[in-house]
Amino acid sequence: MAVVGDVHRWWRAADATFLERTRPDLSLFVGDLGDEDVEMVRAIASLSVPKAVILGNHDAWQSFGRKVCTDKLRTSLELLGDDHLAFAVREVPRAGISVIGARPFSWGGQSLRSPELYDEIYGIRTMRQSAAAIVDAARSAQHRDLVILAHNGPLGLGAATHDLCGKDFGKPGGDWGDRDLALAIQRIEGMGLRVRAVVAGHMHHKLVHPRGGERTRFARREDTLFVNAARVPRVQRDEDGEELSYFVRMSWTRGECTGIEEVWVDVHGDVRSATTPSITAIEGLAPVVDETLELD
Ligand SMILES: [Fe+2]
Ligand SMILES: [Fe+2]
Repeated sequence: MAVVGDVHRWWRAADATFLERTRPDLSLFVGDLGDEDVEMVRAIASLSVPKAVILGNHDAWQSFGRKVCTDKLRTSLELLGDDHLAFAVREVPRAGISVIGARPFSWGGQSLRSPELYDEIYGIRTMRQSAAAIVDAARSAQHRDLVILAHNGPLGLGAATHDLCGKDFGKPGGDWGDRDLALAIQRIEGMGLRVRAVVAGHMHHKLVHPRGGERTRFARREDTLFVNAARVPRVQRDEDGEELSYFVRMSWTRGECTGIEEVWVDVHGDVRSATTPSITAIEGLAPVVDETLELD
């Protein structure tokens, strides 16, 4: 599987070539393609490879401002169709996994920002209802080994600015993970399913505070791997001035992740470098879910 972090309009013809040539069984896009940018959505939607997308807060920017689904967001959702994996499941039989889509458009933090917008599109007004919708998607999965695709990671991965979803802006510090996703993961694991990986973005790799810092983007808690693919911008120049773009590549066999690499792709769509990231162990964090969030 290939993972594409927050795009923010950094998408090249060479990136399409890379995916079309290497043909991953599934390409996962964690969202923030642009600022409610229909042409960016069209470019991703028209890729002739199997893909699953979860749109980010930037993809619904004006809709959140107006608390109503704009024509542009409506068109984006139509273009993506079933490839937009919000509260839905995609089977990947060759990998032995089912991919579960979490809540789209997440801003992180405690608030949904616009319950009106979520209600209009998905019939959801609360974190609890959102968690239940994620769990419902997992219930219909054909495999016991799951990958969750989300725009933002779950609550519970740490409250330092450099943690995978740590708050690095405004008043820095605090856990900016998604509460609904944390609750859903607990429930899904309680059902005897295995969440093998959570693939997300949103919290960009360069920290606002402390300036110059970089966040942890690969972490493991027990059997679950957490990936934050938001290297922003995802296209950079190396020291020789060559333009390279960033992907994460994961290998899966019978429901187990057997390899993960950070990959830089050149302007021809060829891999220039592939390295195995170091993975931070997370342990000892208190359960994040309180009684008031118990599902019905
Ligand atoms: Fe982003
Ligand atoms: Fe985002």
